[in-house]
Order: sequence, then C-alpha cells, then structure tokens
Amino acid sequence: MTSTTTGSRTQEHIELTETYAAHNYHPLPVVLATGEGAWVTDVDGKRYLDCLAGYSALNFGHGHPRLLARMHEQIDRLTLTSRAFYNDQLGPFAKALAGLTGKDLILPMNSGAEAVETAIKVSRRWGYEVKGVEEAQASIIVMEGNFHGRTTTIVSFSNDSDATTGYAPYTPGFRMVPYGDIAAIRAALDDSTVAVLLEPIQGEGGVIIPPEGFLREVRALCDEHDVLMVADEIQSGLGRSGTTFACDHEGVVPDVYILGKALGGGLYPVSAIAADHRVLDVITPGSHGSTFGGNPLAAAIGAEVVAMLETGEFQARAVELGARLEAGLAPLIGNGFDAVRIRGLWCGIDITDGVATGRQVTEALLGLGVLAKEAHGQTVRLAPPLVASEEDIDTLVAAFVAVMGSFSG
Ligand SMILES: Cc1ncc(COP(=O)(O)O)c(C=O)c1O
Repeated sequence: MTSTTTGSRTQEHIELTETYAAHNYHPLPVVLATGEGAWVTDVDGKRYLDCLAGYSALNFGHGHPRLLARMHEQIDRLTLTSRAFYNDQLGPFAKALAGLTGKDLILPMNSGAEAVETAIKVSRRWGYEVKGVEEAQASIIVMEGNFHGRTTTIVSFSNDSDATTGYAPYTPGFRMVPYGDIAAIRAALDDSTVAVLLEPIQGEGGVIIPPEGFLREVRALCDEHDVLMVADEIQSGLGRSGTTFACDHEGVVPDVYILGKALGGGLYPVSAIAADHRVLDVITPGSHGSTFGGNPLAAAIGAEVVAMLETGEFQARAVELGARLEAGLAPLIGNGFDAVRIRGLWCGIDITDGVATGRQVTEALLGLGVLAKEAHGQTVRLAPPLVASEEDIDTLVAAFVAVMGSFSG
C-alpha cells in the first residue's frame, strides 16, 4: 500500500522544515494547520482523526473551549512573573493539584523531562537528608524499556540505543531491572537505594501494562525498605487510562507523582511533581527552580485542567471509548495483530511480523485520514483525545480493518 499522496503546500512545508530544522524526528508526511476536538486539518485542507493526541498531551482535544477561554483571559492579565515574586495563579493551582493528587505540596516545572529531573533531585536529596544514605552514594532503580525524557541524566538510564548513542559520559546512580519483575527490584535494593522510578504503564515502550499486582508489590517493597516509589504519570495520568492516575488501577499511591503533558491542556507546557512534606520539604530556596515554572499562564491552565478532571467525566469517557475500541479491534487479533493492550483509551497493538511494520501501518492509516504513531518496530499505539465521539472510534476501527485487509489481502 502506498503511503499517501501529498499536496503541493504539504510538500513545500516538509521541504522547508527538513531544510532548516534538525532531523531529530521522522514525522509522517502530513502538515497540520488547524485542529478542533479530535480532528485536525492539513495545509491542503484534508481532515484527519488525531489518534496520537500529542502523546496524550491533548487528552482534552485540540482547543478545548473551556481551556482556551481560561488561557485567553489569563494572557490578557499576566503571563510571567518568575518566582522572584508571587503571582495570584500559582497558589490556587498548587492547592488544586495537591488536592487531585492527595499530596501536601507540588513543585511546578514546564516540560516532562524537567519534572522527572526534579523527582530525581528530590529523591537523592531526601535520601541523604532524611534516609541517611552515605554522601554521593544514592541509587535509583529504573525499569528496562523506560521512557522518561531526553536530558543527559535521563538518557543515562535508557536502554534505547537511539536515545543514548553518542551522549556519554552518562550520569551514574541508576540500576536497571526488567519491567514488571518484583524479584529483580528486590535484588537490586540495598541501603543506598532512595527510589524506584517507574511508569505505571510504559507509553513509549508500546503501552506495556505490568503484571497485575506489580504496582502493589512495588509499593510494599518501598515501604519495607524506606524507599520512595516515584510514578512517572506524565503520559499515563490525568484520565488517559480511565482513572485519574494509572496507579489507581491497583489502588496504589506513590510517594511522588510526576505529571506533565495533559496538565497543560495541549496549550502550554506545564509539568509538576507532587509529594508530601516529608519528601518535598528537602527543597529549600535556591536548591531548584525554573524561570517559567509556576508562571501565571501555566498555573491558570493547569488549575482549569484539574477542575475538569475533578468531575470524573473524562476518566469515564476513556473507559467507555476504550471498551468500544477494544471490541472493534478484537477480530483483528490473529488476523494481522498479535496482541492488543488497552487500558482506558490507550492502546498498543503488536502487528504480526511479516504482515507489515508499525511504520507501514501508520503510513497506510494516514492515507485513510487517521493519525497514529508506531512505537518500536512492530507496535502501533493509539491515544485518541478523550473528547472523541463513538463515531470517531468507529472510524478508527474501520480504518484499521481496511488497512490490515490491504496488507494481508
Ligand atoms: C512517561 C514519560 N515521561 C517523560 C516524558 C518526557 O516529557 P517531555 O517530552 O515533555 O519532556 C514523556 C514524553 O513522552 C513520557 O511519556
């Protein structure tokens, strides 16, 4: 199946981007110009159903009216103060997010990677000051197949060679174990361990759901050894998996939540960590910060996002639409799909080897007006906005049926 026919404006923009922007991505050949809800339109006027949703940053869809209105209002009032001064938006946002997470405090940042860095720094400092770990010996247990961002320290504990090659020397202090393997975590633990850092569902890894009970076992092990359980919910949290946090599926509360992506409503980069006093009180003036973190525009949007999540409607919608997607895709298992993993409206599909690669499937879906993204090799992940309609899910399923039919037929 050919990928897609591209119009002249599309071609022009692709050439411009490829000429002047570094080649750190390999995008599908589509150039988007506008978006509303679950749908986007390209520069040649063709519409697409967005089933990636900015890697879950667009849980509320493109340009959600409530978020846009709040953003517009705040832009006209005050956008940036730095933390050298207080602003009248950060306090309400911090209170709201602390309430949503059930934690005492939040520390606001901008990108997801910055929030992960923040959690690493806080964990280490907590280790030295509260747990009593020997100076400069703190270790953090991380999972194989993780994705936590792109900074030098974060890629130091990635096992994806695309992310790490050429960036040595790597930051020490991390021990990697297989995801979902509680015995391996137990074996990696010692007196120097300050945290277990994990994604409760691995997103970039291909929507990998750990074995039932794993998160509870991690929680118990962390309690037993006085180690922080740090959950990176940047992609899995804020409604995507059908609950506010993916840890909720096992009734587990981590010591530190790391949040980002949808916290900014797809309008603005907003991230944060949330934890109790006994953890976050290790942060003192001058020990961490960001010019933009906690700015009034970010805080206004973040507070609105939290208010929207408090109704529970988006979480419920993820469950309903996810069930519809699961039912629609089930007949393809064994007929082009090896496996489908779904939690909420978040789905990883393993395409049968030899039928097509993940990239070929996403290119074919593009031709039918559906945007999705491959994960590694054979996997395609789907994360439509939670504001999608039943018909949108049916459109997605129909496109998949057609695409898989074209590959096997
Ligand atoms: C689980 C997880 N953590 C961290 C990040 C990094 O976030 P950002 O790209 O905003 O730095 C991502 C991004 O995909 C992610 O999925």
